[in-house]
Amino acid sequence: MTGFSADWLELREPHDLRARNSAVLDAVVASQAGNSAIRIVDLACGTGSTLRALAPRFYAGQHWRLADNDLSLLARAAATARPSGVTVTAIPLDLNRDLEAALDGPIDLVTTSALLDLVSEPWLDRLAVETLARSIPIYAALSYDGRIEISPRHSFDAAIIAAVNAHQRGDKGFGPALGPMAASAAIARFQSLGCSVVRGTADWVVGPLDREFQLEIFAGWASAARDMPSVAQADTVEWLTFRRDEVDSGRSSLRVGHVDFFARPTGSR
Ligand SMILES: C[S@@+](CC[C@H](N)C(=O)[O-])C[C@H]1O[C@@H](n2cnc3c(N)ncnc32)[C@H](O)[C@@H]1O
Repeated sequence: MTGFSADWLELREPHDLRARNSAVLDAVVASQAGNSAIRIVDLACGTGSTLRALAPRFYAGQHWRLADNDLSLLARAAATARPSGVTVTAIPLDLNRDLEAALDGPIDLVTTSALLDLVSEPWLDRLAVETLARSIPIYAALSYDGRIEISPRHSFDAAIIAAVNAHQRGDKGFGPALGPMAASAAIARFQSLGCSVVRGTADWVVGPLDREFQLEIFAGWASAARDMPSVAQADTVEWLTFRRDEVDSGRSSLRVGHVDFFARPTGSR
């Protein structure tokens, strides 16, 4: 599975749904109270997980514009089952090049999930400035924040985690990525522009029974570590073998830190 494959997004979605911070979600829903028809733009929608998480929480009618540059994921998102009163338009678009086009027209709420850790500081600044210029609140969920706890421990954990976090800072199509710094940088930027921000952790808490999910996570981390010079290949192989054995024997669990936030222009709506 690749970082954005439909299979991986499907595997992670129930964990994302459980992890989403409820206080942040409540603030998002409360911000739209009294609005009988909500116009939402979801940036980097993937197969539509944010639509599925959020749409049932609003009592109002909703129109979602779903933006992504992966046409296959976008087609799945557009075809997703949704509550009555919810309509969808798919927007194929490169958010690095055409963010402003995604934000064209009347919008009540911008959403995104698992995107901000991929973007660069200049792109994040663009997002903040462009949403603020239009007085649009933004709900940004599930930004990885660098915290990883794995049980049982292995002596190579720290080196692998450091390599994963360094790999996260590579270019993911938006310039050098903010990676684990994304959520704190975004929150600071929105606050500096005068937004009120509700934030909270949204960690994956992955138990011994979540074998397939754990195996994919560990394989992904080993692959990231292999790309980095700081960890010897043999150490990565030994670490991954240990991790797979622990998963197979039902002893493995982990926590992966994420942050959700909702930034709202002060007094805008
Ligand atoms: C980690 S996935 C998250 C998908 C979805 N938001 C979710 O939470 O399941 C990142 C998404 O960003 C999209 N993406 C990456 N670079 C992009 C770009 N330059 N323009 C538009 N979408 C992009 C990918 O296609 C993918 O759907």
